[in-house]
Amino acid sequence: MSDLANKRIVLGMTGGIACYKICELVRRMTERGATVDVVMTEAATHFITPVTMQALSGRPVFVDQWDPRVPNNMAHINLTRGADAILVAPASTDFMAKLAHGLADDLLATLCVARACPLLIVPAMNREMWANPATQRNAAQLRADGVTLLGPTEGDQACGEVGSGRMLEPHEILEDLIAYFQPKALAGKRVLVTAGPTSEPIDPVRVLTNVSSGKMGYAIARAAREAGAEVTLVSGPTALAAPRGVRRIDVTTAHDMLDAVMGRADSADIFIAVAAVADWRVKEVSASKLKKTDGGAAPVLEFVQNPDILGTVAALPRPPYCVGFAAETEDLARHAAEKRARKGVPLLVGNLAQEVLGRDDTTLVLYDDAGEHPLPRSSKLAAARQLVAEIARRVAA
Ligand code: C5P
Repeated sequence: MSDLANKRIVLGMTGGIACYKICELVRRMTERGATVDVVMTEAATHFITPVTMQALSGRPVFVDQWDPRVPNNMAHINLTRGADAILVAPASTDFMAKLAHGLADDLLATLCVARACPLLIVPAMNREMWANPATQRNAAQLRADGVTLLGPTEGDQACGEVGSGRMLEPHEILEDLIAYFQPKALAGKRVLVTAGPTSEPIDPVRVLTNVSSGKMGYAIARAAREAGAEVTLVSGPTALAAPRGVRRIDVTTAHDMLDAVMGRADSADIFIAVAAVADWRVKEVSASKLKKTDGGAAPVLEFVQNPDILGTVAALPRPPYCVGFAAETEDLARHAAEKRARKGVPLLVGNLAQEVLGRDDTTLVLYDDAGEHPLPRSSKLAAARQLVAEIARRVAA
């Protein structure tokens, strides 16, 4: 993944035990293509050495405002020019107070005041320090000044206490940072997504389901959130974690999914039906486990058709912009066109089931009034971002 290719990030570290987690963050950032210039306060060097951060970033690390390695002695200017963002993680109570007052008494604080790029901070502190009215005042002031705060979150703290002030985990910081750089094509929009398989009971221990992993729907929910939308993900049973900032509603059967969707469809601007909904369910679900007997006949199950969720939403008097999916094993164009007409949706996204199911990459083809638009083969997340951009363009038009 090269989500951060061509991004130059000044990563500021201030004094806190959460510094140890930043080693992992720097690894993940460089893996994704970022150039990371680490700047540490003197207090941060008591937790992690500059040598460690230099080895991980592959770049010189700066601590001292008077560092003779910078030829014109302008480290506080040079380091931020050309940077795409300054990310301060962990951001201590003291550092937040300095930032809120525009103090510039060390290299990192001076860099922040002299910056010409966005500033994101990741607070990390004891719960009483975070709850302190002075810290809350400073946090509010920083938000008002246009600084982006990532977290903090709640949980166990290094001091043994439990509460709010805990730093986000490195993978969460990374996801938020990547999202920060995505174009906000869906800002202010409400997006409803279905994903995963459904699971229809046969008896108390057996179900009827399919091999959908949910990866495509989850990638679309993430991409929509990255694009600035408020996203609700109605998900059948999957092994996936919800993307950050996405509200996930877990359902099991097609009927559960229909109920969850219909309760929210009226207030959605866009509905994207990615779920592989079971077409049929068992007519009479057995209250007790179906028993096999030696030489006995196999049970015969009678099926009834499930409701069509996408078709039901598209038929609302004032439907959201509806996007359907079609996973076919052959003759994609013909099936997709037929499905788009039958469901009454403006956009249908087709793919070949054998090429995508359970995999991390995909090839999508868009079908709309203007015809057929294939997207290049890519990771499901990259494809989801392209699809979200295509949807945003159509919704805006
Ligand atoms: O041909 P099919 O009815 O399976 O069409 C697939 C599209 O319709 C997908 O977008 C899928 O999420 C949606 N669908 C649905 N409810 C169903 C079956 C499919 O919303 N019962």
